[in-house]
Amino acid sequence: MTGRILVGITGASGATYARRVMEQLAEAQVEIHLTVSALGKRLLFDELGLKRVDADALTAGRGELVTIYNDKDVGAAIASGSFLHDGMVIVPCSSNTLGAVAAGITDNLLKRAAAVTLKERRRLILAYRETPAGHIDICNMQRLSEAGAIIAPLSPGFYLHPKSIEDLVDFMAGRILDLLGVEHDLSTRWEEYQAQQRMPT
Ligand SMILES: Cc1cc2nc3c(=O)[nH]c(=O)nc-3n(C[C@H](O)[C@H](O)[C@H](O)COP(=O)(O)O)c2cc1C
Repeated sequence: MTGRILVGITGASGATYARRVMEQLAEAQVEIHLTVSALGKRLLFDELGLKRVDADALTAGRGELVTIYNDKDVGAAIASGSFLHDGMVIVPCSSNTLGAVAAGITDNLLKRAAAVTLKERRRLILAYRETPAGHIDICNMQRLSEAGAIIAPLSPGFYLHPKSIEDLVDFMAGRILDLLGVEHDLSTRWEEYQAQQRMPT
């Protein structure tokens, strides 16, 4: 597939998920339009050691596919409904950004792009990361889901017998790519696992 996907990275834990999703988008030759919140930048540093938003480091060297936008620039191209794209994923998505998008607050570019994606009835995926999910977050998830967004908690499955953290990250990244409609060969499919194990059905 080729296409155009918006990626938002917020200050929730799980920057490694964002990197894996972006690597796979780049592998699929998808144009990536990236914006990172202020706390998202901190988490890129804390969890991945990135001192700046580094397109090459986030795509295994395919940075030419990435356009990075300043999160303070709410007038950037992706803030407009006229910017055509195939969907947006916020990964990881903080409780703060979830709440703001649910309330229609657009005080940074990431939130504005998400609000516009919703109003234009395009695919919006929020890969939520907080636990436990408080009542307010649950209400916000319901509101967003009713508005057409997909809530995809970062909650990997264990039925494929993961052997490493990378396996767990790949599972979630694969599920997110499925939701975006982007082909990948990450190991996520129960059907294939069952076939390999020759399990009785
Ligand atoms: C090290 C660290 C880890 C954090 N992890 C989470 C998290 O997993 N989920 C969450 O909702 N907020 C988390 N936060 C808090 C958010 O960063 C904070 O609410 C921030 O306002 C989010 O801003 P943003 O939504 O604009 O990125 C974390 C903060 C730090 C410093």
